[in-house]
Formats: sequence, C-alpha cells, structure tokens
Amino acid sequence: MFRLTFIFFSIFLSSEAFSWWMWTPGDSVDDSTQLLMVQGYHPDQPVPFSHKLHANDRNISCEYCHNAARRSTSAGIPPLNTCMGCHKVVNTDAEPIQYITEKYEKNEPIEWVKVHDLPDFVRFSHQVHVLAKGENGENLLQCESCHGPVKTMAAVEQWAPLQMGWCIDCHNQEKIPARDGKPAVPNASVSCNVCHY
Ligand code: HEC
Ligand code: HEC
Ligand code: HEC
Ligand code: HEC
Ligand code: HEC
Repeated sequence: MFRLTFIFFSIFLSSEAFSWWMWTPGDSVDDSTQLLMVQGYHPDQPVPFSHKLHANDRNISCEYCHNAARRSTSAGIPPLNTCMGCHKVVNTDAEPIQYITEKYEKNEPIEWVKVHDLPDFVRFSHQVHVLAKGENGENLLQCESCHGPVKTMAAVEQWAPLQMGWCIDCHNQEKIPARDGKPAVPNASVSCNVCHY
C-alpha cells in the first residue's frame, strides 16, 4: 500500500509543475520509518562500545573499523575479528571484553542495534559520497559532514535529520548559499530517480 502511494505520489510530483520545495515532510511516510528516523536516537547496545574512547582518546581512524565505506554502499560494522586484534591483550579483565571474547570464541556475532535506517525506497551509497572530490582533488565530505562529532559521542547517535530536505539541501548548494563558511558542493543531482528506486 505504501509503495503504491509512493509511486503515484512520485508520478504526480515529477510532473513539470512540481518544484521540490513544495514537498512537505511527513505526507505519507509510514509510522515505523518515522519512529526510527529521529535525531539523537542512540539505542542501547549489547556492548557499551564508545566512539569517544576509540576514535578520539585512542585516535583510531574511522576507516580502520568502517573500511567498507569507500568501496561499497554500506560503511559496515566491523566484525569481532577487528576488535580482537587489540582486545586479545587490551583490558582483558573488563566485563564487556570478556563478553566479546566469549562471543568471538564461539564464533557468534554481536547483534548491534542499527542507529541509522533510511526507508527502503531510498538509494544511498557511502562510496560516492566518501570518494567525492572537489575542484582541487580534495575530499569534499568527511564522515563528520553527515554524522556530526562522532568522536565526542560515548554512544553514537543519529546526528542528521536524514529527511529528504537534508539530502536535497546539500545536493543543491549552488542554489542555497554556502553555510558555515564552507564552499558549496558542486551540484549533485536532485532528480527523483537518483535517490528513489
Ligand atoms: C538527494 C536525494 C533525494 C532526491 C533527489 C529526492 N528524494 Fe525523495 N526522499 C529522499 C529521502 C532520504 C527520503 C526519506 C526521508 C523522508 O521521508 O524525508 C525521501 C522521501 C520521499 C517521499 C516520501 C515522503 C514521505 O513523507 O512519505 C516521497 C514521496 C519522495 N521522496 C518523492 C520524491 C520526488 C518526487 C523527488 C523528485 C522531485 C524526490 N523525492 C527526490 C531523498 C531524495
Ligand atoms: C574500533 C572500531 C571503530 C572505530 C574506530 C569507529 N567505529 Fe563507528 N562503529 C563501530 C561499532 C562496533 C559500531 C556499532 C555499535 C554502535 O552503534 O555503537 C559503530 C557504529 C557507528 C555508527 C552508527 C551505525 C548505525 O547503526 O547506524 C556510525 C555513524 C559510526 N560508527 C561512525 C563512525 C565514525 C564517523 C568514526 C570515526 C570518527 C567511527 N565510527 C570510528 C566501530 C568503530
Ligand atoms: C586499535 C585497538 C582497539 C581496537 C581495534 C578496539 N579497541 Fe576497544 N579499546 C581499546 C583501548 C586501548 C581501550 C581503552 C583501554 C583503557 O583506556 O582502559 C578500549 C576499551 C574498550 C572497552 C571498554 C572496556 C572497559 O574497560 O570497560 C570496550 C567495551 C571496547 N573497547 C570494545 C571494543 C569493541 C567492541 C571493538 C570492536 C568493534 C574494539 N573495542 C576495538 C583498543 C581497541
Ligand atoms: C553524505 C552523507 C554521509 C557521509 C559522508 C557518510 N555517511 Fe555514513 N551514513 C549516512 C546515511 C544517510 C546512513 C544511513 C544509510 C541507510 O540507512 O541505508 C549512514 C549509515 C552509516 C553507518 C551504518 C551502517 C551502514 O553502512 O548503513 C555507518 C557505520 C556509517 N554510516 C559510517 C560512516 C563513516 C565511517 C563515514 C566516513 C568514512 C560515513 N559514514 C560517511 C550518511 C553519510
Ligand atoms: C553533505 C552533503 C551531502 C548530503 C547530506 C547528501 N549528499 Fe548525496 N551527494 C553529495 C555529493 C557531493 C555527491 C556527488 C558525488 C560525486 O561527485 O560524484 C552526491 C551524490 C549522490 C548520489 C549519486 C548520484 C549523483 O547525483 O551523482 C546519490 C544517489 C546520493 N548522493 C544520494 C543521497 C541521499 C539519499 C542523501 C540523503 C540521505 C544524500 N545523498 C545526502 C553530497 C551529499
């Protein structure tokens, strides 16, 4: 039912008369989606993994653990193998480390709870964003451009609104004045079919 509504709505909106700024949020999103897409959302996790402790205090780079980001749609969550590279010897007496060691030895994964979850009708790829280059070949975007100050977060949270308007604002920065003194992003597409299946 929702998918059908979406298709009809899209056909209507893709008509010439439509401008994207006529779009209003919340028109037809289903409740389960909206519940999950909340800024500041940080569910309880089976292990109290701290980004602050690892990415800031110990200065481990994001891509050490999320190395799928530059080669696939998904940034991925690291397998226990990555954790055990250090935790075979680091803090082995701590209770959460004993828990992950036990899981590792039994070859069972940790069931992390998803923080971000776009609806299935949206197409998003980490690779195109992480590899996007500016005029001088510099990286246009950092992880923090979309995830905020993860290094300060004990429990990582949904920092961005993840609404369509948020995606469009950035894709459309030639029409919208650059914010925070940052250079405008070269126009990425705002055609419906770029982001929608
Ligand atoms: C840059 C990416 C992007 C583009 C371009 C884009 N969308 Fe979306 N759209 C999204 C995202 C992300 C969502 C889900 C979040 C939300 O509901 O705001 C969404 C949601 C929607 C929804 C569901 C909204 C709701 O509240 O149920 C409709 C309908 C929609 N888009 C239509 C369109 C149409 C029509 C166009 C072209 C004019 C378009 N989109 C272009 C990213 C995009
Ligand atoms: C030592 C490994 C490690 C490092 C380094 C690391 N992460 Fe993570 N990251 C994880 C694990 C494990 C999870 C899943 C548990 C959680 O959500 O806290 C995760 C979850 C996330 C999530 C939420 C995923 C979701 O469910 O939506 C984001 C966003 C994220 N990391 C971004 C980053 C960024 C940005 C950096 C660098 C500043 C970074 N991570 C550094 C291991 C790491
Ligand atoms: C590059 C090394 C490294 C990697 C990889 C790593 N950690 Fe850590 N971890 C540390 C260090 C160092 C500490 C902090 C020790 C301290 O300051 O007490 C720590 C602390 C922790 C703690 C807190 C332990 C306590 O004392 O309560 C948890 C939980 C934890 N790590 C989980 C993980 C998980 C889960 C992964 C994999 C997603 C992971 N770590 C990957 C080095 C690492
Ligand atoms: C252009 C914005 C943007 C950038 C840049 C970005 N992300 Fe994401 N990230 C997202 C969105 C949107 C989602 C939710 C995707 C979904 O639900 O399908 C997400 C989801 C994630 C997740 C959850 C697992 C997954 O892949 O869905 C992790 C982990 C993550 N990002 C880490 C990173 C890291 C690390 C970087 C930098 C190397 C990064 N992201 C760069 C927007 C971004
Ligand atoms: C902070 C800026 C920023 C945000 C936020 C952002 N994007 Fe993008 N996006 C870009 C840039 C820049 C590119 C162009 C990459 C390149 O140069 O190839 C791009 C490219 C894309 C592409 C590839 C198609 C194309 O136009 O080249 C898709 C699909 C896409 N974005 C979807 C999304 C969706 C869906 C969201 C929201 C959930 C989103 N983006 C949020 C900056 C952003």
